[in-house]
Amino acid sequence: MRIYREKDYDAMSRRAASIIAAQILSKPDCVLGLATGSSPVGAYRQLIQWHKQGDLSFAGVRSVNLDEYYGLAPDHDQSYRYFMQHNLFDHVDIKPENTNVPDGLAADPAEECLRYEKKAAELGPADLQLLGLGRNGHIGFNEPCDHFPRITHLVDLTESTIEANARFFASAGDVPRQALTMGIGTIMRARKILVVASGADKAGAVYSAFTGPITPEVPASILQLHPDVILVGDESALSRLAAPGA
Ligand code: GLP
Repeated sequence: MRIYREKDYDAMSRRAASIIAAQILSKPDCVLGLATGSSPVGAYRQLIQWHKQGDLSFAGVRSVNLDEYYGLAPDHDQSYRYFMQHNLFDHVDIKPENTNVPDGLAADPAEECLRYEKKAAELGPADLQLLGLGRNGHIGFNEPCDHFPRITHLVDLTESTIEANARFFASAGDVPRQALTMGIGTIMRARKILVVASGADKAGAVYSAFTGPITPEVPASILQLHPDVILVGDESALSRLAAPGA
């Protein structure tokens, strides 16, 4: 695993954006696994800037997002489809038909999970999968549990996640209780995984994910088994990892 320890959120975002841009430049028709949340927003902002300067094109890129709240319409301002449109897709030249986010309004969630898993399989392994970390070590919306879910599935969100994500909603009561998420198996198929983590409230998750036992109680700990992981974090998120050479 390669670790980039950056001084703050902006430096972390620039580093993450450089890695994503390098992927796109070296394979313009790559498959990008994309993530939502506050951690990747700065990286998306930087990618948009490079696109606007004429340095980066998404015209051939195919994208597949990790997850979506179940019950939110694509135009709901807290849906992950809306997030992706506003924080990236609407500002770059990616073809709308090449973007994929689970359908939060699917009448039959089980069917939607199968459709999404099939779509991800058709696209093939993500060349680069971007991941944030939940405070409880979740990836996508794979919450701590007694096994590693393999494929895209409907999940009940934990109280910790509902509380963490309540900041985006009018109240905790408005946070959806369920989500559709890629499975751990879907995520682990990616050729390369880029984890971004910022802030002191991620220090515990980073520490247990990368130095603790591999357990579904800390879903991100499975990443220790992936052959090509890059962790980009700021000082506070990486504060519990030993400094290089220590
Ligand atoms: C949500 C998303 C995750 C994300 C996590 C952390 O729960 N499903 O994919 O990594 O939040 O978000 P943030 O980056 O805002 O801390």
